[in-house]
Amino acid sequence: MIAIICAMKEELEQIKILMQNSHIEKSGPFEFTLGEIERKKCVLTICGVGKVSAAMCTQALIDKYNPELTINVGVAGAIDENIKIGDVVICSAAIQHDFDISIFPGRKKGEISGINKVEISCTPWVVKKLTECAKKSEGFNFHVGTVLTGDQFISSMSKLKKLKKDFRGLACEMEAGSIAQVCYLNNIEFAILRAISDCANKKSSTDFYSFIKSSSKNAASLLYKFIKSISD
Ligand code: ADE
Repeated sequence: MIAIICAMKEELEQIKILMQNSHIEKSGPFEFTLGEIERKKCVLTICGVGKVSAAMCTQALIDKYNPELTINVGVAGAIDENIKIGDVVICSAAIQHDFDISIFPGRKKGEISGINKVEISCTPWVVKKLTECAKKSEGFNFHVGTVLTGDQFISSMSKLKKLKKDFRGLACEMEAGSIAQVCYLNNIEFAILRAISDCANKKSSTDFYSFIKSSSKNAASLLYKFIKSISD
């Protein structure tokens, strides 16, 4: 079974329409939609915004369904100036940009204590397969690189510049790094697929709502191609 985690309803809706034979199961605060995409068993859910909600939901999913693969799908703000609204980012790794114990000797900014890593790498075969599927897709540009996660909606050039200076990343969002951490600790393969809704600047809060639907459609379209390619 593949677990698909979105933070918001607008992101999930574009995937839900791809699902067949679905039914709902509830667990604590979460609602899980179980069904099939191209005959592949999937479970789809909304985790809510931010790292705590995302971590709780990912662990609940793993405990209940033991998925073979978890994919976080949704939108993100662009950090790199070559990345435009609507573009898809296939994440090779996630960094929690607001995790900072660098005051202690030998610790780097973003380093997660316990794991002792800054970047958590996404499962390589999934990144490769998603990239192959994206190359064959039309209607959006795509990029492969690191995503930066934090409990902040980025909406200013000064914050953007700081993120660029501290970490090399293509996009910013608020859940992927914690989903990556939970999957890593549970030995579950995972991927992160995000489409750009805004450029993390002063227009980002209005752009976010203007483009969340169209960008989520691009992410869902690549997800569909990926699932089709592995269910053949
Ligand atoms: N998700 C989409 N856009 C974002 C932004 N600018 N900051 C954080 N998360 C986002």
